[in-house]
Amino acid sequence: MIKFINATKKYGRKVVALDNLNLHIRPGEFVSVVGRSGTGKTTLVKALIGEECLDKGQVMVGGWDITRVRQSEVHILRKQIGVIFQDFKLLPNKTLYENVAFAMEVCGKKSSKIRDIVPQLLKIVGLQNKVNRYPHEVSGGEKQRAGIARSLVHQPKILLADEPTGNLDSINADEIIELLLKINKFGTTVVLVTHNREIVNRLRKRVVTIENGTVAHDQVVGKYVL
Ligand SMILES: Nc1ncnc2c1ncn2[C@@H]1O[C@H](COP(=O)(O)OP(=O)(O)OP(=O)(O)O)[C@@H](O)[C@H]1O
Ligand SMILES: [Mg+2]
Repeated sequence: MIKFINATKKYGRKVVALDNLNLHIRPGEFVSVVGRSGTGKTTLVKALIGEECLDKGQVMVGGWDITRVRQSEVHILRKQIGVIFQDFKLLPNKTLYENVAFAMEVCGKKSSKIRDIVPQLLKIVGLQNKVNRYPHEVSGGEKQRAGIARSLVHQPKILLADEPTGNLDSINADEIIELLLKINKFGTTVVLVTHNREIVNRLRKRVVTIENGTVAHDQVVGKYVL
């Protein structure tokens, strides 16, 4: 599903964010990516969605070589990957419903389809009673759940979550992780970047530890080892 082959990314001359990194993630896996600040985790995520280009090596996603994909084809690839962020990135002047709907509108989806899908997604994440609230009218956990609903609009094969619980208290964080596990059970490959030791240890799933831009540990049922 995801393959990094000798991936190297430098920022300027001195900062080596990814250093010959090799990583293979199979379809349907749930992988936690951990590591100290500045070790390259977000760069890894950005390389996966084509937001940063590698200096060397390859990133394969579902058989596509991202490093070679044509500009005109990027949008096809991007639909296969849902992303959620630490700071939610919701549009403040749109309701939760409109935030999710907007992700479909910009891709030219029919309004009948949008009216059909958006309530379903908001129900999956437990926001059916808050669809008309604005982001500032809901809790952090609810904002993140709206972010997850939005990330699912194209039924992605992969869900990338970069510190999705970083701004949440532990109860809300647990709910978000439960949701990610549920989405994974439906078959979506989940990559969770996190600093949360407790969550990682409780998950008892694969843990990849990044150090200095490369994979330092890769454990099938891993623990947070830093
Ligand atoms: N746009 C940029 N320009 C220059 N250097 C950058 C840029 N983005 C990241 N870096 C540097 O690249 C390295 C890896 O950064 P990255 O954001 O991938 O780390 P991270 O593991 O996600 O850290 P954190 O846990 O703090 O989020 C760091 O040294 C960082 O300072
Ligand atoms: Mg980061």
